[in-house]
Parts: sequence; C-alpha cells; structure tokens
Amino acid sequence: MMVCEYKPGLEGIPAAQSSISYVDGQKGILEYRGIRIEELAEKSTFLETAYLLIWGELPSKEELEAFEHEIRHHRRIKYRIRDMMKSFPESGHPMDALQASAAALGLFYSLRDLHNPAYIRDSVVRLIATIPTMVAAFQLMRKGNDPVRPRDDLDYSANFLYMLNEQEPDPLAAKIFDICLILHVEHTMNASTFSARVTASTLTDPYAVVASAVGTLGGPLHGGANEEVIQMLEEIGSVENVRPYVEELIQRKAKIMGFGHRVYKVKDPRATILQNLAEQLFAKFGADKYYDIAQEVERVVEEKLGSKGIYPNVDFYSGLVYRKMGIPTDLFTPIFAIARVAGWLAHWKEQLAENRIFRPTQVYNGKHDITYTPIDQR
Ligand code: ACO
Repeated sequence: MMVCEYKPGLEGIPAAQSSISYVDGQKGILEYRGIRIEELAEKSTFLETAYLLIWGELPSKEELEAFEHEIRHHRRIKYRIRDMMKSFPESGHPMDALQASAAALGLFYSLRDLHNPAYIRDSVVRLIATIPTMVAAFQLMRKGNDPVRPRDDLDYSANFLYMLNEQEPDPLAAKIFDICLILHVEHTMNASTFSARVTASTLTDPYAVVASAVGTLGGPLHGGANEEVIQMLEEIGSVENVRPYVEELIQRKAKIMGFGHRVYKVKDPRATILQNLAEQLFAKFGADKYYDIAQEVERVVEEKLGSKGIYPNVDFYSGLVYRKMGIPTDLFTPIFAIARVAGWLAHWKEQLAENRIFRPTQVYNGKHDITYTPIDQR
C-alpha cells in the first residue's frame, strides 16, 4: 500500500494542472494567461481580462464588443429572484445573500448542457452580468429601498457603482473600481477556486459551482479579511497607537489581518497596485487618516515579521479604496466575489475540459473493532 504524508491545508500539493494564472511568491509575480498583472491593471478592463481568463486569449475588438454587449443586456435579474431577496433578513451578511441568490439562479436555468459551448457561454454571461445586480439589489433592499435598474449605457463598473449609490459615479472612481476587479479576478488554487473546481468536478451546474465558491470566499482567512482590516484600523485609531497594538497582537500570536499569504513571501503585487490606487483616490477626494495608520502598520509589521515573509496581501489596501468610495464594509467581500466569479468560471471550464471527480483520500486516525454499547449501559 502506498503511504502518503498528510499535509494540513494541502500545502504544496497540486490539485490541478492549470494554464489560467501563475504566481511566483518569492519574486512577487502574478500573471493571468502569461500576462503580468501590472500590465493588465494599466491597459485592460475587467471584462476584457475576464474574457482572457475564460477563453484563454485576449479578444479581438469584435469579440470584446460582442461580449460586452451580451453582458450589458443580461444585467437584469428576474422579479422572482428580486422578490426572494426581499424576504432575506436585512441583518444577514451580504455574502450569505449572494450565495443564496447565485444558487437560486440555478433553479431558473436548470438545463445543464455541459457539452454545449452555447450553454457555457450563456452561463458565463449570465453569472458575470447578474452578480453585481444581486449585490447592489440586496444593499438597497436591506435599507428599505427598491433596487435600481441596471443602466445599459454604462460600462460594467460604472453601472455597478450607479446601482449601488443611485447616482452616476465619478469617472476616476469607476476606473479605479474596474482595476480593483482586475486585481481580484483570479489567483491560482486558492480556497474558493479549489471549492469551485471540486463542485465542478461532479458535473453539477455553474450556479452551484459559483454558490459553493462564494460560501468559501466569505471566511475571514480568505476574502473576509478586508473587512477585518478596516475594523483593525478603526480600533487602532491613531498612528501613535500602531506600534503597541501590533506588538500586543504579535505577543499573543494573533494574526494581523491583511498580512501573510500561503504563497507570497514578499509584498503581494496586488497590494502595491492597490496602495497606488488608494493614493490617487485620496489625491482627488481628500486624505484619509486611516491610510496613515495603515502605512505605519505596514512599517511595524515589516520590521517585526518581515524576516518570516509576512507582508501586506491583497486585502490590506483594498478596503481603504472601497471605503473612500463610500462602500459599506460588509460589501467588500461581495465585491471580491463580483470579480472572482470570472476566475471561478475559467476554472469551471478548464475542469470540464479534462474532468475527473475529486476524490482525495484521508489518513484515518480513529479506532477499530469497537463493539456497540447499548444506550442504557453508556
Ligand atoms: N500576522 C501575524 N503572523 C502571521 C500572519 C499574520 N497575518 N500570517 C502568518 N503569520 C505567521 C504565523 O503565526 C506562523 O508563524 P509560526 O510559524 O511562528 O507559527 C507563520 O506566519 C505561518 O503562518 P500560517 O498561518 O501557518 O500560514 P498559512 O499559509 O496557513 O496562512 C493566511 C495564510 C491564512 C493568509 C495567514 O497569513 C492569515 O491568517 N493572514 C491573515 C488573514 C488574511 O489577511 N487573509 C487574506 C489572505 S489573501 C486572500 O485570501 C485573498
């Protein structure tokens, strides 16, 4: 019998072969289909990058226009989904609302024709188009307002910010938001992508794939960390408090949110780009004292934990950017999901192309040959 070593968290164990994205955690390199993230953030758009990830190549002008057109015209959600969302408790977390809504889409589109490229494309378009609408709709409905209809004349990111805030966004804010989506769209075999691939491998529908990935993304060790970063910065309250606060966390071996990564042992390249975007926002819309606190946290953590490879990850500066745009803290992770859905779908498609159901093994460490004790003798 083959003896295999158990690795908690499956660290270092390949779960798939993939050509979608690549990370070099020592050099701080992230590529989507071979293109550096810095270049895509500067020159591409979220929808173009989504196309690249899902279909493997940058689209031609016509292909991109057709894709954008389809997305634009599939943004509305069914009244029955909206009515279902209305009955969600307003105190519920928007990630839970999103998970339930994404799963509910599968009830309406239950064809599951996985060998048909038209079905794949329709599902991709529907999920990328409607997830922002569902996030914005829940946000308005939990405040007691009616959801805002998507606007076909606005680009993807501008339309989302419009639906969320009920007014057209500033063009710089919309552009920066779009770059944020590019930075969050894909990141190799992380927990939610693994979850998506495991679900996909059973040949279920893409709505179940996305719903399971949304559930996985919601946890504080994954996408949920950006919420906790803001809570931490608010708790610190001033630059002077940073050092004692961080030292106290390190002393009791608590994790500093927004720092550390299973793969990166240097500063996450996405954190560097996000920090730059935050500075652009502050230059246009006014400074933010929490940015000064964040920079000091980065300095102190680097001094104390840099030798262990603990540096800011993607979640450290993203919250500051969204906060400056007036987005409520508990929508940060749903926004992460708006972006990541395209990455999950790229993995769904790749998984289907050479599918084998996931069925790992385990190392049993329980008992054997125990006899059943009747209940009155226990
Ligand atoms: N603050 C302080 N110490 C840390 C941190 C941190 N944020 N992250 C890791 N460490 C330390 C650990 O205490 C451990 O030290 P030890 O060897 O002395 O015990 C060592 O670094 C290794 O840490 P692990 O937890 O074993 O690393 P793992 O790869 O399992 O975890 C994770 C990675 C979950 C991201 C971790 O760094 C963490 O919890 N960070 C805070 C939460 C966070 O920001 N999550 C977002 C990640 S990005 C994303 O999901 C999109």
